[in-house]
Amino acid sequence: MVVPVVLVCRVTVAVVQKVDVVAVLDGRVPAAVSVYVLVGVVRHVSAGLALVPVAAVGAVQVTVVRVVDVVAVRHLGVAAVGAVQVLVGRVFLVKGGSAHGIHIYPAIRLASRPRTPECRTLGNRRVRHMKAITYSRYGGPDVLEYTEDAPDPKVGPDSVLIKVRAASVNPVDWKCREGYLDGLLDPVFPVVPGWDVSGVVVRPGVSVSEYAVGDEVIGYVREDFLSRGTFAEYVAAPVRTLARKPRNLSFEEAAGLPLVGLTAYQVLSKALRVRTGETVLVHAAAGGVGSVAVQLARRHLGAAHVIGTASVHNHDFVRELGGDPVTYGAGMADRVRKLAPGGVDAVFDTVGGDTLRDSAELLVPGGRLVSIADPEVVGLGGTYYFVRPDAVDLQHLSELAEHHVFSLHVSETFPLERAAEAHRLNAEGRTRGKIVVTVDWG
Ligand SMILES: NC(=O)c1ccc[n+]([C@@H]2O[C@H](COP(=O)([O-])OP(=O)(O)OC[C@H]3O[C@@H](n4cnc5c(N)ncnc54)[C@H](OP(=O)(O)O)[C@@H]3O)[C@@H](O)[C@H]2O)c1
Repeated sequence: MVVPVVLVCRVTVAVVQKVDVVAVLDGRVPAAVSVYVLVGVVRHVSAGLALVPVAAVGAVQVTVVRVVDVVAVRHLGVAAVGAVQVLVGRVFLVKGGSAHGIHIYPAIRLASRPRTPECRTLGNRRVRHMKAITYSRYGGPDVLEYTEDAPDPKVGPDSVLIKVRAASVNPVDWKCREGYLDGLLDPVFPVVPGWDVSGVVVRPGVSVSEYAVGDEVIGYVREDFLSRGTFAEYVAAPVRTLARKPRNLSFEEAAGLPLVGLTAYQVLSKALRVRTGETVLVHAAAGGVGSVAVQLARRHLGAAHVIGTASVHNHDFVRELGGDPVTYGAGMADRVRKLAPGGVDAVFDTVGGDTLRDSAELLVPGGRLVSIADPEVVGLGGTYYFVRPDAVDLQHLSELAEHHVFSLHVSETFPLERAAEAHRLNAEGRTRGKIVVTVDWG
């Protein structure tokens, strides 16, 4: 049976928005109540013109809400999370039985109607402001400012709004802030720094089916310009940059994964094409990229021998990762030759300069050389690599982390307000694993 759903049309719906959740005492028990505002009345709801095949029809009006925020609340004295919902309208469902079960078809969409000024201010979340770190000019860590008045990110159709739990620091963050990447990654000031994130989805864009409200995600949220980063309470992240958070990792550890994980994985598996049984040299093996690269080379790609450069105080750490540590600096090449007299099959350079040049000499005939730090690698017959957001790769990494193929070491955490200290510390070039910035939800 085919039912023309144009039959169900012309209704008026009230649109309300929950603008606040307020802590109250309910008979001495802590609780939370919601504050709603009426943001408009939508009339002239028009019917979709499609026909739906159904066996029996019942037209039912239902309320459609969208969760726009997840807030920390206390329920009976216990810390909990509550969803802030917006009533976005009402939809007629036409349902009927069939061989395949129940058909549910959103027969009606809300007709657009010019918004009143009140709607523009209260009808979307742009009236809300968020905590963030921003900078409005290039410079040292001092240009980083903490604000509680940054505008909410705009969420496009292919993006989700993430409530940020943690973001990690990468050298590229302070290199961008200093202006070293001007012309390659241009800023749109004020810039919110940061590309790595872990958090919870609070609003999916209209075309997003991959994630729902409440999903825990990680992301390497790099866009083609600098403006809307992750050092904030919220970030709008395109789905192409996201994956599900590994369940066994804390939000802090998970925030350390995306950029360094993707770099290590893409370089080892796609650029260097490391194969079972090979010998690989990884520079800065105790750092963010290197520490993941050593683990992936050994435990995922089956390299027989992974030599990792690091300071003496990090040698035990490199061993725990599965690597054979070597001190860098003058004489590094001789020390590597002692460990791999026949040469190395692949070099993963994260340092550049002399380290890169000396490493090229260590390769077996036909050996592969990739640098993520020095484009001069091309002149040495190697490849320069710049990591890309890739949802498939990131999901793969998330699963590898869940299966304990590799882990993330977080050496320091800072609250968002102290992000400048996190930048400063990372720029010293001595980070073991990752430095992470956390956002307080309380
Ligand atoms: N092109 C790309 O796509 C891409 C992607 C990611 C990173 N990168 C770049 O790659 C580099 C490494 O990134 P990262 O995140 O791993 O940095 P990181 O975590 O800040 O690296 C810190 C580590 O570097 C080690 N280190 C410092 N100088 C060294 C040297 N001369 N030789 C060997 N190790 C040295 C330190 O080891 P000790 O403390 O043991 O001395 C420390 O553990 C950065 O320049 C970054 O910008 C590029």
